[in-house]
Amino acid sequence: MTSLLSDERPADGLPDPTLLPSPAGQLTRRAFIAEGGATGIAGVLASAPMAASAAAAAPAGANAVQPPSSSSVPLALRVNGKSHAQQVDPRTTLLDLLREQMTLPGTKKGCDHGQCGACTVLINGRRINSCLALALSYDGAEVTTIEGLARGDELHPMQAAFIKHDGFQCGYCTSGQICSAVGMLREAEQGAPSHVTADVRRTGPVAPLSDAEIRERMSGNICRCGAYPGIVGAVREVSLMPRRSRA
Ligand code: FES
Ligand code: FES
Repeated sequence: MTSLLSDERPADGLPDPTLLPSPAGQLTRRAFIAEGGATGIAGVLASAPMAASAAAAAPAGANAVQPPSSSSVPLALRVNGKSHAQQVDPRTTLLDLLREQMTLPGTKKGCDHGQCGACTVLINGRRINSCLALALSYDGAEVTTIEGLARGDELHPMQAAFIKHDGFQCGYCTSGQICSAVGMLREAEQGAPSHVTADVRRTGPVAPLSDAEIRERMSGNICRCGAYPGIVGAVREVSLMPRRSRA
C-alpha cells in the first residue's frame, strides 16, 4: 500500500514510520500524498479504510429535516386535500418537509438548487421548485404533490398520458414533469406568454400549444434519460383535451 521514497528513509535504513498506516488502519497524511502520487488520488480515495473514515466523518442525512427543537415554529398546510399542522425548523425547505417530515417521497430531490425541476409541486395551483421554497413562506397554502393528482384509482389525465406516450424511462424526473405540466397548462390557459409566444400582447388562452411552446414552457424540467419526445407527446395530448376533463 505504501510507496516509499528513497530520500525519506531514515538513517537507520528502516521505513519512516510516518509513511505507514496508523494503528487504527488510517493513512497518515504523508502516506496519502505518497500513495496519491503513485496511483492517483482517486485510487487512494477508493481504498476501504479511507472510505470508512469518510463515511464516519460525514453527518448522517446532512440534508435531512431536523427533529422539532425549541426553535421550531408551527405551520399549517393543506396537502393533497388534507389539513396538516406541523412544527418546523424555520430553515426547512418545502421539499424536505414533504419528503422527510410528511413522508411524501413522490416529490424528488435532484439538484436541490432550482436547476432540474424534479422537486416541482403545485402551490395554490401554481408550479414551484419546492427545493427553493422555505416551508414557512407557505403557511396556509394548498399544496398538491404527485401523490395528490390521481382521484382514487383513477389517474390524472397527465399521468395516464405519460404512460401512454412513454414519457419516462427511469422515472426520477417524472413526478416533477407531471406536476409542472399540469401547472403549465393552467398558465397557458390564463394567457401567460412564453419566450416563444409569437404575439405577447394577445389576451386569452395561449392555445393550441405548439410543440415549441410545450418545450419552452417545460424547459425548467430536465430529464437525464432524454424522454423528451414522449413528454411533449403526453403534454400535447392533454393540452388538446377539453378543460373540464383535464382539471
Ligand atoms: Fe429542486 Fe432540482 S431538486 S430544482
Ligand atoms: Fe429518467 Fe427523466 S425519466 S430522468
